[in-house]
Amino acid sequence: MNYKILGIESSCDETAAAVYDSEKKLLSNELFSQIDLHKEFGGVIPEIASRSHLEKIVPIVESALNKAGVALDEIDAVAVTTKPGLPGSLSVGTSFAKAIAWSAGKKIIGINHLEGHVFSACIENDIPFPFLALTVSGGHSSMYLVKGLGDFELVATTIDDAAGEAFDKVAKMMNLPYPGGPVIEKLAATVGFEDFFSYPRGKKKLHFSFSGLKTAVLYDLVKQGAYDLKTKQFLKDDDQELKAKVSSSLLVCMGDVFKQKIKLALAEHPEVKALSFVGGVACNQYLRDVLSNFCKGRKIECYYPSRRLCTDNAGMIAFVGHYKALQNKFSDFDISIL
Ligand code: KG4
Ligand code: ZN
Repeated sequence: MNYKILGIESSCDETAAAVYDSEKKLLSNELFSQIDLHKEFGGVIPEIASRSHLEKIVPIVESALNKAGVALDEIDAVAVTTKPGLPGSLSVGTSFAKAIAWSAGKKIIGINHLEGHVFSACIENDIPFPFLALTVSGGHSSMYLVKGLGDFELVATTIDDAAGEAFDKVAKMMNLPYPGGPVIEKLAATVGFEDFFSYPRGKKKLHFSFSGLKTAVLYDLVKQGAYDLKTKQFLKDDDQELKAKVSSSLLVCMGDVFKQKIKLALAEHPEVKALSFVGGVACNQYLRDVLSNFCKGRKIECYYPSRRLCTDNAGMIAFVGHYKALQNKFSDFDISIL
């Protein structure tokens, strides 16, 4: 069976649409990022996000269909992220997807955003099962054991902050722009990705926990006279070297934490053949290299998606929608974001 799926994603601050075709694979992957709208607030403002989704959803979906050279009539089903995410943002994508699918007489498939990330590296790679998917972004930090398309189970998750959130919060502490990850990577490169401040690596347990790391960075800055807890002010705005050293130490610490967790997961699941590193944080070249080297030492393959498929996108939603269509797993029109 040949399917053409229109994927729609609007769970946070990206309005995205894509078309995936059984034979020709990913035909388009369009996106409007709201980063500039939220930058001045240092994080995503839900009200601004949903308003922007409303403005952009029609042109982005049109553009995805045009770039794919596919008319709405030729689409077999619409796949849409229904959860998890910001309720207002999710509502825009889900209502829009229902409306066009209903009016064009197409089927609908509700997709969990995390399933999108988990399988995002499978769009461009033939990853052997079972593999371990390390899913790290601004909203989530989890590891899954993936046994087949759509067949996966949670191995570990964060008990507090997500890894990307730690980058974003530490960046904010030092008056660096949102999102923090890319800036922190650039700064860390200027001092050679070395470990200057030896931040704590946390407990040797499977679950992730990043709030302690964030606090450790904060108190280290206070100790160095670089942060005033009373006024919540960063006091060394001109000290590029300090910012670079903090960024570098944070990144090295994060790499060590990831390796430690993967090691524990592999000990529990020796059948694992590969690691897939996905989500916004997987854009980071330093962390990609650290994990690739780690996997080489363990004789397992390491995969990551191209950067456009790491951060939130609709390509991964269309891809999951596609295999769900092949598995005849369509949804009812009463799918909800709750
Ligand atoms: O997947 P994503 O777009 O959104 C969520 O689902 O959360 O991920 C965004 C997160 C942000 O926290 C951002 O700081 C982080 O991914 N990120 C990075 C890099 N690029 C984006 N973190 C580390 N290094 C990067 N180069
Ligand atoms: Zn995401």
